[in-house]
Amino acid sequence: MNHKLHLMLQKYNINKSNKLLSELLMESGRFTGFSASSGKLLLDFSRTTVDQEVLEKLLGLAEECDVQKARERLFDAQVVNVTEQKAALHMAMRSDDVLHKLEPQALTRVTQAREKLFSYATAFAAGHLPGKSDQPVRHIIHIGIGGSVLGPRLLIEALGADSLLQVHFLSSVDAHHRSKVLAGLDPAETAVVIATKSFTTGETLLHASRVMQWLEQRLGKDDAAHRLFAVSQDLSKAEAFGIPSANILYLPAWVGGRYSIWSAVSLAAAAVMGANAFQQFLQGAAEMDHHFRTAPGEENLPVLMALTGIWHRNVCGYPTQAVIPYDHRLRSLPAYLQQLVMESGGKSVDQQGTSVDCDTAPVVFGEPGTDAQHSLFQMFHQGTDIVPLSFIGVIRPDHADVEAHASVLANMLAQATALARGTGGEEKSGTPDTHRQMPGNRPSEVILLDELSPASLGQLLALYEHKVFVENFLWGTNPFDQFGVELGKVLANAIQPALQDLSHEIPANYGLDAILDYIHSKK
Ligand code: F6P
Repeated sequence: MNHKLHLMLQKYNINKSNKLLSELLMESGRFTGFSASSGKLLLDFSRTTVDQEVLEKLLGLAEECDVQKARERLFDAQVVNVTEQKAALHMAMRSDDVLHKLEPQALTRVTQAREKLFSYATAFAAGHLPGKSDQPVRHIIHIGIGGSVLGPRLLIEALGADSLLQVHFLSSVDAHHRSKVLAGLDPAETAVVIATKSFTTGETLLHASRVMQWLEQRLGKDDAAHRLFAVSQDLSKAEAFGIPSANILYLPAWVGGRYSIWSAVSLAAAAVMGANAFQQFLQGAAEMDHHFRTAPGEENLPVLMALTGIWHRNVCGYPTQAVIPYDHRLRSLPAYLQQLVMESGGKSVDQQGTSVDCDTAPVVFGEPGTDAQHSLFQMFHQGTDIVPLSFIGVIRPDHADVEAHASVLANMLAQATALARGTGGEEKSGTPDTHRQMPGNRPSEVILLDELSPASLGQLLALYEHKVFVENFLWGTNPFDQFGVELGKVLANAIQPALQDLSHEIPANYGLDAILDYIHSKK
């Protein structure tokens, strides 16, 4: 990596366009030329101001920067996470050709972990502890945060409709939530999955120790231990915590937290979806891996999405990106993508540690449509900032209410059209009513899934992962580290004792004395 994006954009003379979407959309062949599909997905970026000339220049820039070589280094198990001197091989969890790039010892460990994941998920799905058919399981408490919870939660909401098994997630350390969850559960019918790659995350460990106490008080230490499971890179820390070694599922160091949905972190989700469905989910992602590696740039969904992202962020200068899924089952997708995009690309220095010469990750946010139309969209249509949108829709629903589904898709297409075209509004006494004018020319992309299935969701999430990879490569940043989260954790550990004990002193340069006094005065 030795390009500078800002200079490359100058070299290719890629500048903000004043083309109007209302006109671009009327050009013949606009949809065909500005959409691409793979497997069960379609990407339509015809409602962006990228035109043929811009697209060709962006593709040329990507080629000159050698996105292909970067991609092959990723799949070839090279050290792409340079700051931590690691490969980033989450694709090995789903694509056999990448799996076989592993050293024999790593291959054996990963294969065993996968077998364990499938057999434990199958036992839970059948309603009992693994290897103990007389020990019922009706509930799973999944404890984890960030990448150790967002994936399984999304999977269960999207694909876990028919299971009798109930999964309860504990993430934020707030005890209100934990006490509510525990109040409704019988320890003798509950299994606990503690998902933490590092096994050092404060929130997760605090929840885990409280839930462990709850199990032990009701069942005794030995029976409680049988109901505790962990997914971690650090097997010895998990064992020291009190998890029986047979109940620990291994998560390799080279699978980042926000890329861990493909691993045993999804144990509870695999149990709810069923092992076959989880396998199809992995397979869907493997198909997207193959597409990313083999499709030419102009047909390559992750490349096209990343270049559209670069266009919006680095040429048009838009600082945000909204994700609006028009399917209730995908309601947690915005939160999932928020972590993927913002934790991966929220960097200010390049891989060599030098300041980047361009803006990096946008703020990602979103809500499902049509709810979002009644909260966020006023600003999208008439606000002073332009927010590029990603609309995500599903063509064939899993219900028979044809009218309701037509309404959902009609709303999605209507919003995309209204944003693009705008309106002059009505005139009042010969003068335009500016309150009702909508400027239009507001860009969006539409992603359509044939149906929401394990395979299509796998394709969609892998598509976003690879889009994030290409964008970061072009920015020059490392998408696989997240040092920016550490300082807050250290400070929280230092400040917590002062909240529990007035006499505990914290360094004066934290500037917190006054607010701590205020909090104590109100206790
Ligand atoms: O603090 C951020 C982070 O490290 C994320 O990257 C990660 O997904 C999350 O915390 C949880 O980490 P762990 O799985 O190690 O508990």
